[in-house]
Amino acid sequence: MSAVLRADGVPMRDVVVAARREEAEGVVSLELRAMPGEYLPGFSAGAHIEVHVPTERGGLQRHYSLANDPSERHRYVIAVARDPASRGGSQWIHDHVREGQVLRVGEPCNNFPLAEDAARSLLIAGGIGITPLLSMARRLTTLNRNWSMYYCARTPARAAFLQDLLKLGGEVVPVFDAMPGVSKLDLQALVEKTSADTHLYCCGPSSLLQAFLDVVRHRDKRTVHVEWFSAPPEAAGTGPDSAFTVHLARSNLTLQVGAHQSILEVVRAAGLDVPYSCMEGICGSCEARVVSGECDHRDLILADPACHRSMMICVSRAKGDAITLDL
Ligand code: FES
Repeated sequence: MSAVLRADGVPMRDVVVAARREEAEGVVSLELRAMPGEYLPGFSAGAHIEVHVPTERGGLQRHYSLANDPSERHRYVIAVARDPASRGGSQWIHDHVREGQVLRVGEPCNNFPLAEDAARSLLIAGGIGITPLLSMARRLTTLNRNWSMYYCARTPARAAFLQDLLKLGGEVVPVFDAMPGVSKLDLQALVEKTSADTHLYCCGPSSLLQAFLDVVRHRDKRTVHVEWFSAPPEAAGTGPDSAFTVHLARSNLTLQVGAHQSILEVVRAAGLDVPYSCMEGICGSCEARVVSGECDHRDLILADPACHRSMMICVSRAKGDAITLDL
């Protein structure tokens, strides 16, 4: 058996946990390999996979970035930070996943691609945000590109993959800001001294990403790349929302979306098994093609929403009274 289709048509496959490692305080990595006789689809640096997490309270879909070298075809390596505030995904993985266990995962998907032809790249990681950036650093090393990494963690004990990173040969600057005498990374100063043609990448907690976006707002947007792990408070939209109508072209359904409802909620309540995961506009699972109407994009994925004819229906809304989706 290779890929199996989930009820919503998304291909999933079983993989075996070939290794589980404690990478840092509160961080485990899992090395996932194909089942005997099967293969893993390739991926590019910055990609993530969806992992089905069967907790006691029901199945959850969680997204984890791939940390290994994209040239590897025999394994996926993910890392999971134990999040005490989690809705069960990271806790379950820490407490239950062991070597030899079979997990079900989706195919790699990339919302945080690497500009491989950039002459210089500056990677800024905060905590578990290291995972996609480590894969990027590996790829940039293979391509013999100039790169440097600022890696923020509270202490060395909490900096997963630090030794792997140091072996790559790029410039790596750890910033352990809970250590005596160490200050937080001065993003403003760092960005100011970085040449205009350098591509900047940032992944980590929303406080770091917001601070980063503040200091890069005058730079060419094509050189700025971020990946969110959770939505910042203002991503939920501004001001009171209004009700609107959503037409579902393929299902031939017309539904009302209340001011306090999302399209996703309404569509699922009507019986459509559409995929979703984060419900915060950061994972891309619920993307739907827009057939007509104007969209109020509130996700954090579509880099330039004006170029897209699709929307994330967990957070985005219609701009006018109605919108038609290809669902
Ligand atoms: S469910 Fe993650 S973007 Fe909508």
